[in-house]
Amino acid sequence: MSKKIKVGVAGCGYWGPNLIRNFRSLPDCQLKTMCDLNTARLKHLKSLYPEVASETDYVHMLNGVNLDAVVIATGVNAHYPMAKASLLAGKHTFIEKPMASSVDQCEELVDLAKKNGLVLMTGHTFLYSPVVRKIKEIIDKGDIGEIRYISARRLNLGLFQKDINVAWDLAPHDLSIILSLMAEMPHTVNCRGSAHVTQGIEDVTTMCLGFSRQRSATIQSSWLDPRKVREMTIVGSKRMIVYDDLAPLEKIRVFDMRVERPPHYDTFGEFQYAYHYGDMYAPYIKQEEPLKTECQHFLDCIRTGTTPVSCGTRGAELVRILEASSESLRKGGAPVEFSEQHRNRRSHPATAIARSGGSIQPEKVLPNGIAEKKKNLPVPSQAVGQKSLERERA
Ligand SMILES: NC(=O)c1ccc[n+]([C@@H]2O[C@H](COP(=O)([O-])OP(=O)(O)OC[C@H]3O[C@@H](n4cnc5c(N)ncnc54)[C@H](O)[C@@H]3O)[C@@H](O)[C@H]2O)c1
Repeated sequence: MSKKIKVGVAGCGYWGPNLIRNFRSLPDCQLKTMCDLNTARLKHLKSLYPEVASETDYVHMLNGVNLDAVVIATGVNAHYPMAKASLLAGKHTFIEKPMASSVDQCEELVDLAKKNGLVLMTGHTFLYSPVVRKIKEIIDKGDIGEIRYISARRLNLGLFQKDINVAWDLAPHDLSIILSLMAEMPHTVNCRGSAHVTQGIEDVTTMCLGFSRQRSATIQSSWLDPRKVREMTIVGSKRMIVYDDLAPLEKIRVFDMRVERPPHYDTFGEFQYAYHYGDMYAPYIKQEEPLKTECQHFLDCIRTGTTPVSCGTRGAELVRILEASSESLRKGGAPVEFSEQHRNRRSHPATAIARSGGSIQPEKVLPNGIAEKKKNLPVPSQAVGQKSLERERA
């Protein structure tokens, strides 16, 4: 077996431990270090994984322990400086969603990774979900006809964040799925919302996206709802899909339902919509933890020198939409339009997942793989001043 890939995870709050558990379980990975500013969190994780080193000094983790790759699971405001330092230190870098706080930051990271021949991946976990892959497969086969609209709801009570609104926190999951299914960037984004609990931080938002051929999507996100809801409805010209991520079985149900308008009629009496009510079926889906598939994909991309399905460019596209949603919120819900240049997406790589029948197919080969990557580039310690990066747990 070839050499194990040495990984360090920074950020051991709510989500980081899931990444730690998964990387630790993968046979071609050596999880070397867990890093957090919070010593209580480190102590807890050390009690679970005593063989893994732990430390509070991110700069030392980058320079001192000979890692191949770094995984960043801190709050979003720390993503950019930490990822920049990691790439400058010559490490393949995985950043949790949303990739950074602005498109400019994302693009700088994409350029840096490209220049240094390093893998840059974003945590768009749902692209690795077998359920989402099945939906993509059904749509790409033409089973539901042309998508007309998608509506998504992601609601629960909390966890309130202090530095980002609910759209930046919850909508990335829905956006990554919707962009994959629509296979293009929207031409317009608008967003309305309100801040009920923390002044200036919207805890309820509704985002609307306009796509080509009259297609649209809405995303409702809330930290202020009594029920936990994770639902998406995809309405096609022939059939409709209801995806309930919380359903224990039958997460996807495909309804053979549609409405047709008669092509022409001569009198009012002849005019009738044709309602079609057919069967419903729930396709079989193999159970797999999406995060495990995602972590393995990161390692595979490092080993083979290929571009991940959720590469930095995909991360930047998603942040572009979030930025536009914030602009729209500031303008009371006015639409924000994207230029042609920003809408020119290549065929979305999630297509490659569906076509491969399950295994994750990377998009294209990078110039350099792990063996060729540049190492030991200088780390600007001021870029990752630990105090400035600290984020309180909401
Ligand atoms: N992919 C998913 O499904 C998913 C789910 C939940 C959260 N997330 C993402 O994971 C990231 C973390 O979210 P969370 O809810 O775990 O946040 P959190 O606040 O619970 O944890 C963040 C941790 O990072 C630590 N930290 C901050 N700055 C640091 C630094 N400079 N060096 C080392 N440690 C530092 C904090 O002490 C804290 O323990 C966010 O980007 C979030 O959007 C992704």
